Amino acid sequence: MDKFIIHKSSLKGEVSISGSKNAALPMMAATLLTDQTCVFHNIPDVMDTRTMIKILEVLGQRIQFDNNTLVIRAKNKSGYVAPYKLVSTMRASFCCLGPLLAKQGKAKVAFPGGCVIGPRPVDLHIKGIEELGAKVVIEEGYCIAQAHKLKGAHIYLGGVFGSSVLATINVLMAAVLAEGQTIIEYAACEPEVEHLALLLKKMGADIEGEGTPLIRVTGVKELMGCEFNNIPDRIEAATFIAASLATNSFLRIKDANPFHLTSVIELTKNIGAQINIENSSFSIKPKNNLNPVNITTLPYPGFPTDLQAQFMACLCLANGISLIAEKIYPDRFMHVAELNRMGAHIQRSGPYAIVEGKKELVGAEVMASDLRASAALVIAGVAARGKTEVLRVYHIDRGYEHIEEKFEKLGAKIERQKQ
Ligand code: EPZ
Repeated sequence: MDKFIIHKSSLKGEVSISGSKNAALPMMAATLLTDQTCVFHNIPDVMDTRTMIKILEVLGQRIQFDNNTLVIRAKNKSGYVAPYKLVSTMRASFCCLGPLLAKQGKAKVAFPGGCVIGPRPVDLHIKGIEELGAKVVIEEGYCIAQAHKLKGAHIYLGGVFGSSVLATINVLMAAVLAEGQTIIEYAACEPEVEHLALLLKKMGADIEGEGTPLIRVTGVKELMGCEFNNIPDRIEAATFIAASLATNSFLRIKDANPFHLTSVIELTKNIGAQINIENSSFSIKPKNNLNPVNITTLPYPGFPTDLQAQFMACLCLANGISLIAEKIYPDRFMHVAELNRMGAHIQRSGPYAIVEGKKELVGAEVMASDLRASAALVIAGVAARGKTEVLRVYHIDRGYEHIEEKFEKLGAKIERQKQ
């Protein structure tokens, strides 16, 4: 397992943002809805997209992936089983369920298990496709769904924690080929969901209201192939905002979409930085003393749970006490103990963390537990006095493209040690 060795550094310069991982995965699953070829640009070359390629190949797709362009052709459409061996490494593969069911009338997708960021049920996914007329059973660890012909329905998709990104995506992809009209109420509004709907429309689907909590779908007979660009990764862009704040460095972030980052940009201004936006680029100039702030993670357009850890890392260096409320994954706090090993002063109580800002963090050996926690530890490592070793960086490789090269180009002293 590789590790990163990081020394305190200040950052400077310009970083280019890769395509969004969380938009790319559903786009790839959507190719199961057509027999024609799809070509996608700006797909990040990360472990999760590689895993999705393997799953699609098992399901009978032929795939070429060069220079961030993905060409997906249907080879043999009879595959409908997404095996546990692959699904267990990436829960997002569960979003093959909706398109397989819609196109082939059956799907057998491994039931995702536990996850280090806390319980991640799939009840809303199942409720949605059942309301479209599918019969669903859970057998031997698999979710097996069947329907001769899906029928449009009025589906309420709100859960205990609000909307669900991948449940909305699964139900949307099932509904595009269903007979009649489907209304998805309490749909997730994340840019990745909106982007998927735009792709489906380009493939011939009839969808209105994407990007809002009420999506209306009128089923069509078939979808076509198409060529489509991916959106920039808003979480990667904001990870570099957090790095700029933690290290008090002036950075320019390019090839991003600042309009997907409004909540983050507002918070960054409150923490104490000037942000200048010019189309798809923006620059951040932090002030010397960071202000403590309160953060509540919420579904889009609220502050994303996928940035809670990275912003916690920079609030460890703020001038006072910050309160973080995690409203999406109340147990997503594995990074707290690791940041405390670096001299941070964070107390967790249920879904809350109280972060008492300190003058400095001190390098230590720390363990990455999940994708975003790893990014937080890299940020803390670059900001901390001395040497930090981040172990198990395979987590970060799941979703950040060339992360150490990007940090290195900005002046960070970071080295990957192969183990
Ligand atoms: C997506 O996961 C993202 N993954 C996650 O990013 C992200 O943290 C999450 O959305 C929230 O923004 C991808 O897009 C591939 P949810 P998803 O269903 O869709 C509860 C990362 O680091 N819920 O929107 O699986 C759930 O437990 C990853 O890139 C149910 O109760 O998340 C949570 O509390 C990690 N029942 C809330 O809804 C369900 O059936 C929102 O989760 C489904 C979800």
